[in-house]
Amino acid sequence: MRGFIGGFVAALVVLALVVFAAVETGVVPARADGPPLPGERWAARTSLNATIARQAPKPPYPFPPTDADVAQGATLYVQNCAVCHGTANTTPNAVARGLGVVQPPQFNKHGVSDDPEGETYWKIEHGIRFTGMPAYGKSLDQKSIWQITYFMKRVPDSLPAAAKSIWENPSQVAAPTPMPALPDPKRNAAKR
Ligand code: HEC
Repeated sequence: MRGFIGGFVAALVVLALVVFAAVETGVVPARADGPPLPGERWAARTSLNATIARQAPKPPYPFPPTDADVAQGATLYVQNCAVCHGTANTTPNAVARGLGVVQPPQFNKHGVSDDPEGETYWKIEHGIRFTGMPAYGKSLDQKSIWQITYFMKRVPDSLPAAAKSIWENPSQVAAPTPMPALPDPKRNAAKR
């Protein structure tokens, strides 16, 4: 039994050293344009789905949308999301192409109308780790995120007129209002 435990501990130490060496020597890639590591896609997908199953809001959902809410969702989408996910007549731009490990889906090709709204809401509020998909809970209030969610449920084929017009002609949307300055990052770093 002692030999077994000793061997087990030795194996753990060797494993920790291998992982440490892989990180230290740059074998674990830091670049954004590589292929995923073996198992990376499986681990990311599985943990994402499990987290969403546990945490995503379940129906009935708040802020039942009017067509004006869906149009407001379209406006917020153009301001916050189009840079990666595109609009009706775009091809992937430099930002979208540069997110090489996991490409942002272009929603003019296929939307997320099959996904429950709670799942899409969760993804917008919390983002998706390791992919470049940001968390908007830090910058948009819940109602705005639901408006985007209800817009997403209808993209690209089931949009009411005003939202469809924005989706097809995004240049009519004004730039977003600037947000208040963030606290000084150096002071934040000192606190950690
Ligand atoms: C900086 C680029 C970037 C921005 C900006 C961005 N996303 Fe994403 N998004 C991504 C990437 C990359 C993925 C793919 C993640 C994955 O496959 O796990 C993604 C995935 C998604 C998904 C899941 C798609 C699917 O098929 O399951 C949804 C929904 C989504 N984004 C909505 C949005 C919305 C809404 C906004 C704006 C509020 C937004 N994204 C802004 C990069 C971005």
